[in-house]
Amino acid sequence: MSHDLLITGGEVVSSSGVERADVWIEAGKVRAVGSDLEAPAEVARLEASGKWVFPGLMDPQVHFREPGGEAKEDLASGSEAAIAGGVTAYCEMPNTNPATATPELLADKLERARGRSHPDYAFFLGATEENAEQLGDWESLPGCSGIKVFMGSSTGSLLIPDDPTLERVLRSGSRRVTVHSEDDPRLKERYADLVRRYPNGAPVTMHHDVRDIECAVRSTRRLLDLAERTGRRIHLLHVSTAEELDLVRERDLGDLVTVEATPNHLFLAAPECYEEHGTWAQMNPPVREARHRDALREALLDGTVTCIGSDHAPHTAEEKARPFPQSPSGIPGVQTTIALLLTAVRDGWLRREDMVRLQVEGPAKVYGILDRGPLVAGSAGTAVIVDPSRTEPLAADWLRSRSPCNPFIGRPLAGLPTEVVLRGQVVLRDGVPVGQPCGQPLRFAETREP
Ligand code: DOR
Repeated sequence: MSHDLLITGGEVVSSSGVERADVWIEAGKVRAVGSDLEAPAEVARLEASGKWVFPGLMDPQVHFREPGGEAKEDLASGSEAAIAGGVTAYCEMPNTNPATATPELLADKLERARGRSHPDYAFFLGATEENAEQLGDWESLPGCSGIKVFMGSSTGSLLIPDDPTLERVLRSGSRRVTVHSEDDPRLKERYADLVRRYPNGAPVTMHHDVRDIECAVRSTRRLLDLAERTGRRIHLLHVSTAEELDLVRERDLGDLVTVEATPNHLFLAAPECYEEHGTWAQMNPPVREARHRDALREALLDGTVTCIGSDHAPHTAEEKARPFPQSPSGIPGVQTTIALLLTAVRDGWLRREDMVRLQVEGPAKVYGILDRGPLVAGSAGTAVIVDPSRTEPLAADWLRSRSPCNPFIGRPLAGLPTEVVLRGQVVLRDGVPVGQPCGQPLRFAETREP
């Protein structure tokens, strides 16, 4: 397979601007970016006139369910959805079955991904009460994107519900710790009360009331206190409330705290999303009223949000059809994130440059990912090419996840990824994955050989 390619005539996007230029990739690395580049005749051409050429956009939060949940998704199907959506790399969450909570289980996932993952990949280790003291030794293993903490119960068994255990986790190791922040004691109380009142199932419109704003804020306040006390860097996943964004701004802890937003919280609002999509809009933390969505959009632009992750969390249609709250939380999204953000660009509340900041530079900064950055001479020859002129409703049969439960089906989207180039190799062509999966483990600044 050739790793030489000349991408011609596209608009090359960086976080600081857009330039019409060719991109010449040689042996998997960018050799030159500029106008009218002249590569030897044998170098393959990819015509990109009228298209936008992004550096390798990434998704730093996906759940692919392997091992243990393959009916919902596996690494092959999830990663195929990712590449079809224009994603060149992902970091996968540890709440599989068994949970990825030991070096052996991390190695097992890396082995499963080899030759089956379309994009590049890395996996999180899950924090538990039992492994807290060992995480510092394990967090920098090759292929590990860091440590994930669930402060509130969600899918799977991982949970660190109390401050003393969380402090043990934060004092073990030095990489940034990634956190699902919802207050578990409050969640438990509120679910018990809900089930008492609605023993046969409740309306799903109650989801964002059960897991209310106070659940999120209380937990995030506890977490910020502990981050400050221990000096440990933390990353707040899928922030869902305007109040937490204010808290992050007020506490002003600088690089100690980074923040992720998901397209779900940026594009949906309660109660309409629950009325329209039922449990297909149910995720943790919940989508809330429009004012939170609007605050998140603002925070994307003022720098409070560091990166965007899809929180791709597939469940089967049968599971989603159970009465709330037995219906599981989470929706697929790895394939639709880039198309949704391109739609935001079309609609004028996001710029192409912001996508590079939030989907390349942001994740690279948060996790110390190497080989992802602007397309310049010497950088990795990894790029995503999109066609901004394609405006069409999201079609169910375009989606490749095993979970069909995508609430954005039917929504008109402006712009679809057409090509993905991984180290000079075209792996998505005309929107179709081509060739054998050739993703490799992501490399991190803080990786240590064991
Ligand atoms: O809605 C969610 N689903 N939130 C999570 O944090 C986990 C995820 C899942 O794995 O299903």
